Amino acid sequence: MKFFIDTANLDQIREAQELGVLDGVTTNPSLMAKEGITGRNNILKHYVDICNIVDGDVSAEVISTTYKEMIKEGDELAELHDQIVVKIPMIKDGVKALKYFSDKGIKTNCTLVFSAGQALLAAKAGATYVSPFIGRLDDISTDGLNLISEIRLIYDNYGFETQILAASIRHTMHVIDCAKLGADVMTSGLSSITGLLNHPLTDSGLAKFLADYNKGN
Ligand code: E4P
Repeated sequence: MKFFIDTANLDQIREAQELGVLDGVTTNPSLMAKEGITGRNNILKHYVDICNIVDGDVSAEVISTTYKEMIKEGDELAELHDQIVVKIPMIKDGVKALKYFSDKGIKTNCTLVFSAGQALLAAKAGATYVSPFIGRLDDISTDGLNLISEIRLIYDNYGFETQILAASIRHTMHVIDCAKLGADVMTSGLSSITGLLNHPLTDSGLAKFLADYNKGN
């Protein structure tokens, strides 16, 4: 399972990278705004800064909503760095854009996916990644994890190579459940990654080992 971090915060990206378990980064316009990154040039520079910290794929989201504009914007994003994955919303023109980039050999991440049908379309269009937003489904009393299971079943039935990128992850149990259900990738904030470290028996066990060692020294 690949671990992506879902942030535009460079310090958090560095921390996850230094932990040695990071496979990539996802961003979106809201995450950029949260870090105070505004204006086209600043945003493009920030994508390059992120690529220079991590080794893996970095999703950069288009803000256009028509096919013509999306492919122009996506081509520009892809030119920035060879780690850039063009992130495209699940709308009609987005599906056409996914196909365009797939035919060109440019990686894509189909975002804002909330149903199995949308995931099927993304795979048919050749998306590299499909991003089902499980937390936002949970927020409206719909089982987000069930969507991961449905997509896994459908993709396995037909051997689709599109990778399931579980997104909108809210906590460590989402990470563990997505791993059990066979998501290829998960993207979350830093706390859901470092939270996996925690267990009170590890803490008390280590404290006892160190105390016992110190008795004899
Ligand atoms: C994924 O690529 C999105 O950026 C993200 O996971 C959305 O998460 P949210 O629902 O916490 O905003």
